[in-house]
Amino acid sequence: MAQNKVLVIGSGGREHALAWALAKSPQVSQVIIAPGNAGTDHAADRTGKLLNVGIHSHDIQALLTYARSNGVDLTVVGPEAPLADGIVDEFMAAGLRIFGPTRAAAQLEASKAFAKSFMREHHIPTADYANFADYDEAAQWLRAYQKPVVVKADGLAAGKGVIMCHTPEEAHLALRRTMLEREFGDAGRTVVLEEFLTGPEVSLLAFSDGHTFVPMPPARDHKRINDHDQGPNTGGMGAYAPVPSVSPAVIEQICRTVMQPAIDGMAARGTPYKGVLYAGIMLTPDGPRTLEFNCRFGDPETQVILPLLQSDLFDILMACTTGRLAEIAPQIAWHSGACATVVLASPGYPGDYPKDLKIQGIEKANALQGVTVFHAGTAASDGQVVTAGGRVLAVSAVGHDLTGALNRAYEGVHHIEFSGMHYRKDIGHTK
Ligand code: AMP
Ligand code: GLY
Repeated sequence: MAQNKVLVIGSGGREHALAWALAKSPQVSQVIIAPGNAGTDHAADRTGKLLNVGIHSHDIQALLTYARSNGVDLTVVGPEAPLADGIVDEFMAAGLRIFGPTRAAAQLEASKAFAKSFMREHHIPTADYANFADYDEAAQWLRAYQKPVVVKADGLAAGKGVIMCHTPEEAHLALRRTMLEREFGDAGRTVVLEEFLTGPEVSLLAFSDGHTFVPMPPARDHKRINDHDQGPNTGGMGAYAPVPSVSPAVIEQICRTVMQPAIDGMAARGTPYKGVLYAGIMLTPDGPRTLEFNCRFGDPETQVILPLLQSDLFDILMACTTGRLAEIAPQIAWHSGACATVVLASPGYPGDYPKDLKIQGIEKANALQGVTVFHAGTAASDGQVVTAGGRVLAVSAVGHDLTGALNRAYEGVHHIEFSGMHYRKDIGHTK
């Protein structure tokens, strides 16, 4: 059996889930996570394959040097920022194998203006919109529009930068905050003003080798901090997959009208899309509309999708980097049940929060059948696991169906404790 070394870049729950799934492969002898968290630390790991290395995900040169001098066979990029900065281009130029889109292909997430123009050009259903680099022109458009609108900063704004406006007053204020006050920094140099759509949302992620794509089970995340979708947006407070109300026919429709033209369109531009293409879809009364593309695995979607993957993740990622996805696609298999995850957050998140709070009970939760606790913002301190971020843990569980998965996930949650711990009690409520 080949003994491959894999480098996973990032430090969140998504990266823990990636490292966990890759470590299950008999073809992988070591998974190095840069920089990782307490869950991917050698000390916490039962497989003996995981190892953290203290290199930050934005330090492309240090990552490249590490991969080259340590004989890394495959690098997998978690977050969007290094992709938008061209980490894939640099690794490829150095002859190193890496899973993810090039800088040009990552534009689908990194520039909302690019993504909207691309969708319009390739007839991918999306909200009506207009792009503006000039504040006065944008304000004039808003005065004429008068309907509810969504104001979006063009560039990467760490999940923020999208303001939903019900009234013209809210819209003008949002435009001022984004373009004049630069609340989201340079991301707000250009804005996208978009038709306000309504309907349930679904995340459809697909593996792609640039020409062939394979969809993963549809997932739904829960972005708001509080139950019943109240309070500010977060990075995601929980998720489940598959989504019972998203039928095979709807998945097929999204593949045909969104995924296929996106993969074909990127290839036709000479910037083939290799990696995970993530479409954020709203199921409107007029059919599926694409809200956004992301150029990576979702967080916390990954924590519910990968536990359902029956096949070897390493095989799939290798096939994507070598253009052989069509060959292995028929063998990619998923478990028939469901998976749910509940995120445990620090007190105060998504605002300011304390760190270094001692966490109890992770082992007890992990010992439950079907439960896996993925770490996000955690650190090891004197042999103890402590909080180190806003989203601290994602407690995932598989079950025969969604209800079974949710019951187990919450059972896991009830074993875990840290001061001021906050989580949503209604994950999986919107089916
Ligand atoms: P985005 O980062 O573009 O996906 O936007 C983040 C969230 O804002 C989405 O998940 C939706 O809940 C919401 N959103 C974005 N665009 C629209 C839209 N055109 N109409 C209604 N809600 C939207
Ligand atoms: N769950 C949303 C994201 O990963 O962007």
